[in-house]
Amino acid sequence: MTHFLDIHTTAPTDLRNIIDRAQSMKQARAGRPKGMPDDNQPLAGHMVALIFEKPSTRTRVSFDVGVRQMGGQTMVLSGSDMQLGHGETIADTARVLSRYVDLIMIRTFEEATLLEMAEHATVPVINGLTNRTHPCQIMADVMTFEEHRGPIKGKKVVWSGDGNNVFASFAHAAKQFEFDLVFTGPEPLDPERSLDGLYTTVRNPDEAVEGADLVVTDTWVSMHDPQSARERRHNQLRGYQVNKELISKAKPDSLFMHCLPAHRDDEATSEVMDGPHSVIFDEAENRLHAQKAIMRWCLGL
Ligand code: CP
Ligand code: NVA
Repeated sequence: MTHFLDIHTTAPTDLRNIIDRAQSMKQARAGRPKGMPDDNQPLAGHMVALIFEKPSTRTRVSFDVGVRQMGGQTMVLSGSDMQLGHGETIADTARVLSRYVDLIMIRTFEEATLLEMAEHATVPVINGLTNRTHPCQIMADVMTFEEHRGPIKGKKVVWSGDGNNVFASFAHAAKQFEFDLVFTGPEPLDPERSLDGLYTTVRNPDEAVEGADLVVTDTWVSMHDPQSARERRHNQLRGYQVNKELISKAKPDSLFMHCLPAHRDDEATSEVMDGPHSVIFDEAENRLHAQKAIMRWCLGL
């Protein structure tokens, strides 16, 4: 079974093939209305379940549209509306869904839920974000970087802010795609220890971004963080805001990314988000193309 659970558990050659295919599939349908099918219909006859235990705009819409463009059908399920939310085990849910659908994408809280789904499903499972990682996002981010600047190998990527789930997938990608990753953020919000060795830490954001080819940030309060921590996190992270002054210390042609949704003028200013370095909406678009290639890889189509 070919699941897409994480970047570090997927072989570098497979990751590279997925990115390259995503790029060629994007080019092949350039300029078409969004609802027009792709010429080849690799998912014809296939049913895909999209399960959300957390809110989503990009993941939900990009997977749904992507499946339809490839000729498949989707059902979007909210965790709370399923028996999953009323105590049916993940394992039983996985076994049952595998009798109805050909592919499962799940966005959930605990990584254990994703892993249990993958263990018991007899169809491929895709990670649509957990508290720990967000691999589909970083596949789109690598694709976006390469679209604008060529190979990411050997480039310097600087993450400014919370050492969260999106950072973790960047750290996994740094190893697989061979780029240098620098984390700059407050010590209490350091990335989890399992990522040690995949990045370097520079506490001072001005020093960290020197020579950066790409500057990235994300929300200061993730969906799994308690709202009670909001004020403390804002106080800890304020000095790591990506603003015009900070980005001016990176390379002149550096790119700026944010997976979105953003809290404008908290983690990044609108001036940067809408400015010349920003590729945030290309990044959002590329979720669609990257995930289409991921689904084809999972299904061997
Ligand atoms: N970036 C991202 O995953 O966005 P959504 O939460 O809207 O899916
Ligand atoms: N770190 C954010 C990413 C949202 C796409 C969260 O987990 O809420």
